[in-house]
Amino acid sequence: MMSKPYEIFNQSCYGLSPLSENTIDALITDPPYGISFQNHEWDKSLPQRQIWKDSLKVLKSGAFGLIFSSVRQMHRLMVDLEDSGFVIKDVLFWVYLNGMPKSRDVGLGIDKELGVDSKVVGEYNYVQGYKKGGAENYYNREKKLKQKPNSELGVQYKGAGLGLKPAYEPIILVQKPIEKGLNVAKNVIKYGTGALNLEQSRIPYAEGEGKVGHNPHPKGRVSANILRTDELQDGYDKFFVVPKVRQHAEDFNNHPTLKPLELMHHLVKLVSFENQTVLDPFMGSGSTGLACLALKRNFIGFELEKEYFDITQKRLEDYRCLPK
Ligand SMILES: C[S@@+](CC[C@H](N)C(=O)[O-])C[C@H]1O[C@@H](n2cnc3c(N)ncnc32)[C@H](O)[C@@H]1O
Repeated sequence: MMSKPYEIFNQSCYGLSPLSENTIDALITDPPYGISFQNHEWDKSLPQRQIWKDSLKVLKSGAFGLIFSSVRQMHRLMVDLEDSGFVIKDVLFWVYLNGMPKSRDVGLGIDKELGVDSKVVGEYNYVQGYKKGGAENYYNREKKLKQKPNSELGVQYKGAGLGLKPAYEPIILVQKPIEKGLNVAKNVIKYGTGALNLEQSRIPYAEGEGKVGHNPHPKGRVSANILRTDELQDGYDKFFVVPKVRQHAEDFNNHPTLKPLELMHHLVKLVSFENQTVLDPFMGSGSTGLACLALKRNFIGFELEKEYFDITQKRLEDYRCLPK
């Protein structure tokens, strides 16, 4: 039992010192994706397998984990998790429509390769990250030239690119195997873990929506493995709806991969119960921790970078001071 609702460490998570074996009820983490996001050093490679072995040790029998990943590296992460002893239970897709396509016009590249000047057809504002308040508060505003391919081959390949618009992030659902000799009920009785909290994470019916199914539950549907941003146009929405947040969505928080609190609330509800303890070894600016405080869970987090650790500390402290 922890004396306060959270404990955070400004140190590398490897080894998970000073946590003891079989003490943690759930793992929720958004680790480095290994895709060099915005060229950040900490995102250059996936975490070493060691951290999943460490996590397995401190988790209780049957405990669940949710690990964010990227489309390009999830296969490696899943192998790492499985080889470390976790059972892969599902992959949730967090779907959003406000991801930015990162591609470039191959036609312009062909012009450059052939030594032909592309046509300048105007200017545009290049932006990277923005604050609450929209376009007026753009950071790193920069004017760039709008160009069109000019060479014959360039024109033929005008608009050809290298990647699709990103519209989902996978979240891997894993479980520590249940102790030998126990079934799920026995495990829950002994450890309080081994079952998803499907009741608290139900998706309420939309206003005015007729209940569907042969035995509709008054609190809504069982959470699906798709978590979506945009509402369906067919009259009902059976998925949880949450948009991506922009960097600088909170004034003092500049973490580049900030996760939406609403999404974190949902994930915390899904894999834990009140008064249990959730671990985030790569907490960044502490979004998992905030969701835990809001939902009466205890939180343990690790963050290597002092700057992000300080942001987490401020967020958790401010949160604790809010009238409840
Ligand atoms: C993807 S970010 C998490 C962002 C978080 N979800 C949020 O909403 O702010 C991953 C974090 O892991 C941290 N990190 C990388 N290696 C680490 C390590 N060995 N121990 C602890 N933290 C580490 C990085 O500094 C980064 O802040």
